[in-house]
Amino acid sequence: PESMSLYDAVGGSEAFQRLVHRFYQGVAEDPLLRPLYPEEDLHGAEERLRMFLIQYWGGPNTYGQQRGHPRLRMRHAPFVIGEPERDAWLKHMRDAVESLELPEELETKLWNYLLYAAQSLVNA
Ligand code: HEM
Repeated sequence: PESMSLYDAVGGSEAFQRLVHRFYQGVAEDPLLRPLYPEEDLHGAEERLRMFLIQYWGGPNTYGQQRGHPRLRMRHAPFVIGEPERDAWLKHMRDAVESLELPEELETKLWNYLLYAAQSLVNA
C-alpha cells in the first residue's frame, strides 16, 4: 500500500543490516576510503549508518535518540570528500544495494536517494 514506509517494504531492519554490512565489507578493503574512518574498528560506523538509514526510511528513530540531529554535512566536514571519495563510496553502496535484490521500484527509490545524498556531502 501507498502508506507503507520503504523500511517496511524492503523487509525492515534485516535488509538494512545486510545493506550496511555489505557496504562496510567494501569500505574495509578500499585504499582510498578506509583511511578516512577514524576508528580502528568499523563496527561503530556500520551501526551509525544503519541506524540513520533505518530512521530516514521510516523505521525506529534509534539514531536520533543516540546521536541527535543527523547534521550530515557538519559530521562529514572533518573528512576530505572529493569526487573520487564520492565515487568509491557509491561503488560499494551500489554493490550492496544490488545484493538485496529488491523489486526495481524500491531499488530505484533507495538508490536515487543515496546518489543525491552522496553528492550533497562532497566538500572538496
Ligand atoms: C559517518 C565518510 C557519504 C551517512 C562517516 C564517517 C566517515 C564517512 C569517514 C565517520 C565514521 C564514523 O561514524 O565513525 C563518508 C564518505 C562519503 C559518505 C567518504 C561519500 C560521499 C555518506 C552518505 C550518508 C552518510 C551519502 C547518508 C546517506 C553517515 C552517517 C554517519 C557517517 C549517518 C555517522 C554520523 C554520526 O556521527 O552520527 N561518513 N560518508 N555518509 N556517514 Fe558518511
